[in-house]
Amino acid sequence: MHSSDTSRTSIGGIGRDRIADLRETEGEAFRKARPRSQAKVGNGLPGFFGGVPMHWMNDWPTPFPILVDSAKGATITDIDGIRLDDFCLGDTGSMFGHSPPPVARAIRRQAGRGLTYMLPSEDALAIGPLLQQRFGLPFWQIATTATDANRFALRVARAITGREKILVFNGCYHGSVDETMVRLIDGKPVNRPGLAGEFRDLTRTAKVIEFNDVAALETALRDKDVACVIAEPVLTNSCMVLADPGFHDALRRLTRAAGTLLLIDETHTISTGPGGYTRKYGLEPDLFVLGKPIAGGVPASVWGMSDDVASRYAAYNRSKEPGYSGMGTTLSANPLQFAAMRATLEEVMTSENYDRMDHLARRLDAGLTGVIDRYRLPWHVARVGARVEFICAPGPLRNGAEAEVAHAPELEAAIHVALVNRGVLIAPFHNMMLISPATSGAQVNRLITAFGAVAAKLAA
Ligand SMILES: Cc1ncc(COP(=O)(O)O)c(C=O)c1O
Repeated sequence: MHSSDTSRTSIGGIGRDRIADLRETEGEAFRKARPRSQAKVGNGLPGFFGGVPMHWMNDWPTPFPILVDSAKGATITDIDGIRLDDFCLGDTGSMFGHSPPPVARAIRRQAGRGLTYMLPSEDALAIGPLLQQRFGLPFWQIATTATDANRFALRVARAITGREKILVFNGCYHGSVDETMVRLIDGKPVNRPGLAGEFRDLTRTAKVIEFNDVAALETALRDKDVACVIAEPVLTNSCMVLADPGFHDALRRLTRAAGTLLLIDETHTISTGPGGYTRKYGLEPDLFVLGKPIAGGVPASVWGMSDDVASRYAAYNRSKEPGYSGMGTTLSANPLQFAAMRATLEEVMTSENYDRMDHLARRLDAGLTGVIDRYRLPWHVARVGARVEFICAPGPLRNGAEAEVAHAPELEAAIHVALVNRGVLIAPFHNMMLISPATSGAQVNRLITAFGAVAAKLAA
């Protein structure tokens, strides 16, 4: 397998001392450039546990979180007036740019007409058919987060198959969905390390195998006790792992043969195209989930069902004992979501925008690869449509175990802060970079130049 250099003295081909030096000097430069921010958040935001309103904000490698004044298009500005080319884009939530004009207009229009009613608005009339046409599934529901959409879809899968178990791929992330929180460690299924307050043995109801491992899939489905395989088309929540040729065909064939449903989670791979990876590569999921950018940054998600799932679910509902299904949240399917989602589907997630995103993402991929080659770094670049990642290890990676070994947190953190100091923001997790419709060629060029400058420092 490919692995990063895991010797004590170097990571990803770079000496540990050099990485530590870079992190320190870049951390210092970050602080110096932001006196106002440091005064306000250098010791944490008052009143919040851990000094942040959401604990992930402490996961950014910068010495303190960037205190944002505003964001527009693909640019984010902090309260010190520093403008950054934003390639993180809210880790996909703003994949179509910050406040896309059609979405901002729709929000303004809806703002004076009520924000939540637990009733549909006329925008909802348009959304159902838009989802049907775009993603090819006939029946839809709206939720507020991709986490919830996955939870609800898995519940339906268990209900209609009468099976308790689900199957996930090692290294996956589908939101904070309890039943998916398992890992393979030394080939053994275990609860994902680090879970807070989890006393259950999640491996009792979740099987976990490596991505791209067709033989393991066949074995895991053999007992016909798995309700659903939940999968991203590409493993994105580790260092990115692309599907082997034929893997998706085998996944569909084997799940069908075992009476197991297939849930495709497109929350990140919607970077592939207007209909996601599913449409581009002709996948045939029984259940489909998309969250994050589907309403242009307004919290919303959608989940879809095939005809077969829908009719079995309707039959199940007619026969189950009366009472709460365990699905739904009060603010889901509200008119603000409808307005923002309709504008996103009709005016933002267009083929023209995707063509542009794809074109610039190719340019970014080539530029970063050029830098890696120039400095002979043992790294590589992976891409799925508008989503690009540099990985500080040789590639391509084939599964979650390889992705785990390839992950180089200290090195990635140092590079992250160094890029911020050169005017570029990438995701705080696994070097992810997104191209939005608002991203310009000049911004891509600046990112390639900044990456080159940081690589030169590391390789010197
Ligand atoms: C593939 C995938 N599914 C689901 C989720 C959960 O999204 P949310 O945090 O909006 O619930 C994520 C979050 O990163 C994700 O990457």
